[in-house]
Amino acid sequence: MQNFTALDADIYPLCLGSNTFGWTSEEAESYAVIDAYVEGGGTFIDTADNYSWWVEGNKGGESETIIGHWMRDRSARENVVIATKCGRHPEFAGLSRSSIHRAAEASLGRLGTDYIDILYSHRDDPAYPLEETVAAFDELRVAGKIKAVGLSNYSGDRIAEWMRIADENGFARPVALQPHLNLLFRREFETDLRPAIERFDLAVVPYFGLASGLLTGKYRTRDDIDASPRASMLEVYFSPEALEVVSALVEVADAHSVSPATAALAWLRVQPGVVAPVASASRVDQVQGLLDSTTMELTPEEMSRLDALSSELPIEKDEA
Ligand SMILES: NC(=O)c1ccc[n+]([C@@H]2O[C@H](COP(=O)([O-])OP(=O)(O)OC[C@H]3O[C@@H](n4cnc5c(N)ncnc54)[C@H](OP(=O)(O)O)[C@@H]3O)[C@@H](O)[C@H]2O)c1
Repeated sequence: MQNFTALDADIYPLCLGSNTFGWTSEEAESYAVIDAYVEGGGTFIDTADNYSWWVEGNKGGESETIIGHWMRDRSARENVVIATKCGRHPEFAGLSRSSIHRAAEASLGRLGTDYIDILYSHRDDPAYPLEETVAAFDELRVAGKIKAVGLSNYSGDRIAEWMRIADENGFARPVALQPHLNLLFRREFETDLRPAIERFDLAVVPYFGLASGLLTGKYRTRDDIDASPRASMLEVYFSPEALEVVSALVEVADAHSVSPATAALAWLRVQPGVVAPVASASRVDQVQGLLDSTTMELTPEEMSRLDALSSELPIEKDEA
């Protein structure tokens, strides 16, 4: 367990992602996934107010609604740390004060709770003064509607700018950073973000821990990818060099008799500043592979091999 001092909470070192809920998992399967995660010891769930608006017939908020129903039906609000995000819901897009407040109220309603543990700014929004955005998040914290602030998809410079504004105004600093990071996408984290993480003591909760499934080893050809509902997300990683990383990962996983997903998340768990990788499971039988990553230890030789191969990837495209 890792301690999030700002929350005074012990955090399970694998955060359950939920962009699958209301997309590739219907409500009953989503309940089964959360149940299995919690029964395995999990306490940390990641969502966003816009999940899963991209599905035909959805409008955003489906994931929060399912999590809210689950917490109500299991009387489980106090047993889980809930992180959600604002700024990208179609009705409350952007980071104006008004959008942030309305989005947070809508999230609280869907989650059926009177507080959110961590509210992330989903991504930077230069259309509004950062002073306005930072102040709005702190207003929510002071009102008790959120316990802590997190940032997702921010550059190192903008993180420093947020911290300066917070310090100058006596606001609480963000405690968590949710960047895109995995064995196939590392450079931005290692060059731009690491100095900020160390300087501001941010807890790192990286997303796309499985590279949308490529690091599970189940996609080896373009045809495999094209058949997936995640095709557009998988496409950004696909290259011969990425497949070499996947092959090495499968060998490492086989040597430990675990799944490649487990080994990929075990690698991520020990990266600098990381407190809990985020990964989702669309089916209940995938959950154990995620849970196993919290105790799996890669040898120094295995870490070196994976690090060396993954640092040779030719292109890193930004998803966010
Ligand atoms: N902050 C941001 O901007 C941002 C952006 C994206 C995501 N996120 C968060 O990060 C979470 C994780 O991202 P993600 O779910 O898109 O990608 P991911 O965790 O990299 O990949 C998850 C997918 O891999 C497959 N999988 C999982 N466990 C498996 C196993 N044991 N064996 C085989 N396949 C397995 C499942 O897909 P199949 O259905 O294909 O089997 C699952 O949905 C999201 O749910 C969300 O909470 C945040």
